[in-house]
Amino acid sequence: MSDGCCGTTTALELEQMVNGPDAGTLPVVVIGAGPVGLAAAAHLAERGIDFLVLESGEQAAASVARWGHVRVFSPWKYDIDAAARRLLEAAGWDAPDPEWLPTGAELIDGYLAPLAALFGERVRLSAKVAAISRLGYDRVRTTGRADVPFLIRLAGGEELHARAVIDASGTYETPNVLGASGLPAHGEKDAHDLVDHALPDVLGTDRERYEGRHVLVVGAGHSAATTLLALADLSADTRITWAIRAGGAARAYGGGDADALPARGALGTRLRAHVESGRIHLLTGFYVHRVENGTVISRDPSGHEQSVTADRIISATGYRPDHSIASELRLDLDPILGSTRALAPLIDPNQHSCGTVPAHGVDELTHPEPGYYAVGVKSYGRAPTFLMATGYEQVRSVVAALAGDWEAARQVRLDLPETGVCSSNLAEAQESRVGLATGISGGLLAAPLPLATVSASGDGGCCG
Ligand SMILES: Cc1cc2nc3c(=O)[nH]c(=O)nc-3n(C[C@H](O)[C@H](O)[C@H](O)COP(=O)(O)OP(=O)(O)OC[C@H]3O[C@@H](n4cnc5c(N)ncnc54)[C@H](O)[C@@H]3O)c2cc1C
Ligand SMILES: NC(=O)c1ccc[n+]([C@@H]2O[C@H](COP(=O)([O-])OP(=O)(O)OC[C@H]3O[C@@H](n4cnc5c(N)ncnc54)[C@H](OP(=O)(O)O)[C@@H]3O)[C@@H](O)[C@H]2O)c1
Repeated sequence: MSDGCCGTTTALELEQMVNGPDAGTLPVVVIGAGPVGLAAAAHLAERGIDFLVLESGEQAAASVARWGHVRVFSPWKYDIDAAARRLLEAAGWDAPDPEWLPTGAELIDGYLAPLAALFGERVRLSAKVAAISRLGYDRVRTTGRADVPFLIRLAGGEELHARAVIDASGTYETPNVLGASGLPAHGEKDAHDLVDHALPDVLGTDRERYEGRHVLVVGAGHSAATTLLALADLSADTRITWAIRAGGAARAYGGGDADALPARGALGTRLRAHVESGRIHLLTGFYVHRVENGTVISRDPSGHEQSVTADRIISATGYRPDHSIASELRLDLDPILGSTRALAPLIDPNQHSCGTVPAHGVDELTHPEPGYYAVGVKSYGRAPTFLMATGYEQVRSVVAALAGDWEAARQVRLDLPETGVCSSNLAEAQESRVGLATGISGGLLAAPLPLATVSASGDGGCCG
């Protein structure tokens, strides 16, 4: 078994399988080297459990790198996992300013890249997981199932074995579609050259693609708002159209002047001001039905049609998890969100903002398939209420359970303020400190809007 879990099947492994495979001696495989996958690795390392992280990208945190120009809402003190911090500090790392809000790129340079480097070859890049099953068992076979290793097939065909799988593969690779009913709009796939993924670097590397053009932004969350405010900072001949399904943008504007947090209200007011001044042309009740040569046609539930023709379309309609890689495993998924059923009521965006999600761990993340845990933003399915800090607590708990330390696994706790981790008031304050006033290039991307969910208490705000 010198290849560990992860080479092709060796003679010794075959012998062990004939005599009864001992999955317990195999490493744990972590899928994805994002913030949560790497935190899982840190906890596994601390507990002396052998592991391998498989990352599809060419660098650690490949998805974070794609939004590297965006400043997060949570200061550093909430962005660093405790086990990762201990390992990094032991290696001589200087922790960043706990109150600073890093960009995605700063998260990588200041934390995730050094963390991945600690693990050396145990983080394997360009290793895309295509499917997970159990060795010799399809989804239907039961007897002895829990004792056999997981089988992990990579995109290139290579197969690896593992004692447990921590799936931290995120949702960034599977954005929602433009089609208003959740199905791709007619012609959407053929229009892929015209349609950009959410959060392009409008004021940076992607500027030329948008300046002086007519740009349509579809969606009503933080990604749409971030992009709209950046577009508004381009030259005046850049035409901006914003299409939302709702009948009005009140949710997206937040509480305005009446908002409990003045800075947040000011941000909502800024977006509204752009709409009211005509800088951003708002189309409400816009249900994308068809895309034809740059013309996007809406057909609402009553059959009424409207259309807009644009040079570029930015799809900022959120994300959904890809459970297809685990389709041979036994999953118990909430029918609405696609999280586990136990987790769904705790993260429901109708009830919670990011800061009010209660601590949860292995018990809420357990599927009928023993040893498989989806964690991180993937574990939330379609709920946009996820925070790195909650993901770190998830993997602390899951790894404790894998180590047999059920007492630690079940003592879940989360020290998050209800505000200040996922609303933009801190971003605004930081901008003032470093002189990037809101509305100035760079400041816009740094201060996405607190959209929609002002919670019942009036102080939510992160989460669409
Ligand atoms: C713009 C933006 C701002 C955010 N701001 C905040 C914030 O302020 N505070 C906060 O707490 N959270 C924030 N979040 C939410 C969340 O914390 C981040 O999305 C975070 O990156 C999620 O971490 P993760 O490790 O679960 O997933 P990801 O970071 O998405 O990492 C998943 C990794 O898995 C890899 N992968 C995917 N598929 C496979 C496969 N099949 N095989 C192998 N590898 C695979 C990907 O390449 C990626 O590296 C923000 C999210 C976005 C998009
Ligand atoms: N700086 C930052 O920290 C920052 C920046 C961006 C994003 N984020 C975070 O990233 C996560 C994802 O944010 P997001 O904005 O990408 O996704 P999101 O919060 O899921 O918002 C997407 C919104 O688009 C709308 N929508 C969905 N499908 C649609 C369709 N087909 N047509 C029209 N509208 C559609 C939905 O609103 P309706 O149901 O009302 O139509 C939905 O709420 C969140 O946690 C967010 O806080 C953070």
